[in-house]
Amino acid sequence: MSVSVKDVAALAGVSVGTVSNVMNRPEKVSAVVAARVQSAIDDLGFVRNDAARQLRARRSKTIGMIVLDVRNPFFTDLARAAEDRAARDGLSIILGNSDEKAERESTYLDLFEEQRMHGVLISPFGDMTDRLHRLRERGIPAVLVDRTSTDDAFSSVSVDDVAGGNLAVDHLISQGRTSIAFVGGPLGIRQVVDRLEGARAAAAGHPEVSLEVIITGALSVIEGRAAGNAILARPAGDRPDAVFAANDLIAMGVLQALNMQGQLHVPRDIALIGYDDIDFASAAVVPLSSIRQPTALLGQTAVQILLEEAADPALAARQVVFQPELVVRESTFSPDRAAARPNLPESSLER
Ligand code: RIB
Repeated sequence: MSVSVKDVAALAGVSVGTVSNVMNRPEKVSAVVAARVQSAIDDLGFVRNDAARQLRARRSKTIGMIVLDVRNPFFTDLARAAEDRAARDGLSIILGNSDEKAERESTYLDLFEEQRMHGVLISPFGDMTDRLHRLRERGIPAVLVDRTSTDDAFSSVSVDDVAGGNLAVDHLISQGRTSIAFVGGPLGIRQVVDRLEGARAAAAGHPEVSLEVIITGALSVIEGRAAGNAILARPAGDRPDAVFAANDLIAMGVLQALNMQGQLHVPRDIALIGYDDIDFASAAVVPLSSIRQPTALLGQTAVQILLEEAADPALAARQVVFQPELVVRESTFSPDRAAARPNLPESSLER
């Protein structure tokens, strides 16, 4: 039976990624580890899969893309921008939805390997870097989108979600809110964890401000509505005066619950800010403040990097991080000025 990279990694006591680096990026590996890996390669008689190099010669004209949730307009906007950039080079995109499940993510990665994709773009749910090393061994590069790479062997294009969470809560505090609820989850999603980290950092600078966390089972309208109803079920004195939703779908759900029940007025009684600034945010029944991500730029940049790495596998990996932007609309006006524009720089006001 043929010896695989995983066999070499197991014998050398290193990760598949390290074996890949010894063969492709030896400058990233210490001499001691390199010697240990080389010894395992010799002992096992491992032969590099030269088909990978031949694969590059017959590279397909299709890019595989895996996103967390196709129901979320953020990801369809991201995929659309990637598709437009790919088309400029005569390539197409096949879009897969992991639905925030590691097993579905793995199924798509298997499919993209079998189909010998030109490359793979992935907004990851699980930890799949070993899987991406195996793709690379087959001559298929991968770029992480909307998430920094924990393995510096792979490029990534993302947004600083810690800064985004900080922006959101800092804005609520500047509007006079002091009892803030972060609503989002599951915490297996890196973007949620980073936004919560930023929210906590903003609140930490204000002893008069409390920040509670309401974890949801998914980043969906339904989960947001459930969280909104849970807030309404509390006694009047035990409700937050502001909600920072981990994304706009959660915010839409919270807004629906509050509007349907009618007890709490947004923003007079409770301010509400989301994340992503999807098109529905500005069209909501109470125009939603949000943290805007440069979604199109994310998609275009990810494809650009993938094409460069497909053409030159020796290129060093790059971590590109963009900054989010605060967009202020009616849903976060200060309580005493709910009918007026907030006292913020004109530049951050969304018309
Ligand atoms: O699905 C996870 C969330 O992270 C999306 O709403 C979008 O904000 C992405 O960055």
